[in-house]
Amino acid sequence: MLLLDQKNPTQLYVQLYEQIKAQVLSGKRPSHSKLPSVRELATVLSTSRNTVENAYQELLAEGYIYTRPRSGFFVSNLDQEIGTLTPTPKGRPCTRLKERSFSFRYDFHPARLCPECFPAATWRKLFTESLQEYSLHYGQYRDPQGEWRLRSGIRDYLELSRGVICDPEQIVICSGLQQSLDIVAHMMGQHSKRVAVEDPGYYLPRKIFGNHSFEVIPIQPGNEGLDLEQLASSNCSAIYVTPSHQFPTGHVMSIATRLKLLSWSEKSGGIILEDDYDSELRYHGKPIPALQGLHPQGNVIYMGSVSKVLSPALRISYLVLPSALLDRYRMLYSGYFSTVSLLEQQTLARFIEQGYWNRHLRRVRTTYKKKHDALLLAVERHFGERAEVTGQGAGLHVVLGLADQPYSEKELIERAAAKGIFLIPFSDCYASGSSDSNYLLLGFGGMNPEQLEQGIEQLYRAWYT
Ligand SMILES: Cc1ncc(COP(=O)(O)O)c(C=O)c1O
Repeated sequence: MLLLDQKNPTQLYVQLYEQIKAQVLSGKRPSHSKLPSVRELATVLSTSRNTVENAYQELLAEGYIYTRPRSGFFVSNLDQEIGTLTPTPKGRPCTRLKERSFSFRYDFHPARLCPECFPAATWRKLFTESLQEYSLHYGQYRDPQGEWRLRSGIRDYLELSRGVICDPEQIVICSGLQQSLDIVAHMMGQHSKRVAVEDPGYYLPRKIFGNHSFEVIPIQPGNEGLDLEQLASSNCSAIYVTPSHQFPTGHVMSIATRLKLLSWSEKSGGIILEDDYDSELRYHGKPIPALQGLHPQGNVIYMGSVSKVLSPALRISYLVLPSALLDRYRMLYSGYFSTVSLLEQQTLARFIEQGYWNRHLRRVRTTYKKKHDALLLAVERHFGERAEVTGQGAGLHVVLGLADQPYSEKELIERAAAKGIFLIPFSDCYASGSSDSNYLLLGFGGMNPEQLEQGIEQLYRAWYT
């Protein structure tokens, strides 16, 4: 039975639509059964024909009913009865996976940035300018490799500051390392399915190549920061490395190792995937030049990101492909579209062109150096001989090595959590996942010097009192 409730704030045609839909889905109105005519139903329900007509049009548009000329409306034949599908009870709270660290007082996640450092006022101004200047472009798909203006700005910056030699044609604007590596895996997967990664190393490349059905071979540091003999015998067609600031150890790949790696690549045809994720952030001396610049015509795919110095929420990164791979890239991706919003691309292009990027870099370097120094001081003050910091002097994290403590990695993290401190396991960095409870990652980007001092004091209490 169909009923319309005049007091219900839901529009009458929607009430009718909902009720008929429910009858169709539950099978109360069998397939191909005829619905009452618009006039008939309007009379029975004491409502207007418009109400019934609108409800029927909605049901028609969604495929619950169909019409036959001059015969009226009929219930569609639904291949799948809704009863056989798993019901979703109304009102059931949907499980949202919360990022755990947001509820902690002290967040030592290595990828946290200083919240106040984002240049919001400048970004807003440039965003508005882009919106005005480019309004004509908002009805179009734009360059699939990313805006030329942004690629040109990135090229100039990379050459001057990172020693990367390339043409804007070689740059692809991506929405993060994840997409950059998806593209690389897709391009490489045409030939070989074996890739080497640093071990310990960033978990994401292992995961992405694994998802693309690659065999992922972990390569240990050995004596040279990267065991090149192991690499040579691994039969891999590519290796993912972080030469300017190894993640997580902070090690800088020596020039000797860089040259040997390039020689491996020349001899074997192997591709070097250089992730230069945070090398702008060096607190003593100049940033280490990128490996790509040592052999710009070589097999190096360079990957950069704005996530460590500007914002990880913008989701903007870039790939620099060797010229030799451009044809393959274009063949595979012809017909694809850019995944990064035109507005954000244009805003970033202006940010670089108008000198804000370099100014911002200088500013954040000073801010993060203060945080970095505060962290080291706090560790020294509270842990003394009980801990040693390595990997300092760059980036947004250091490694804390602990002496004489009885806990497993899990216990260390749990004891810290009980004091409101968030830590990520160092074991995530190992392909084997094995935990070495003597090491922990301490990110310092998201907290101010006072919070860092307090957080480290609490950490000491969590483990040693
Ligand atoms: C080793 C490494 N590479 C790259 C990135 C940047 O990734 P994305 O550009 O996807 O934000 C991160 C971020 O934490 C990282 O730790």
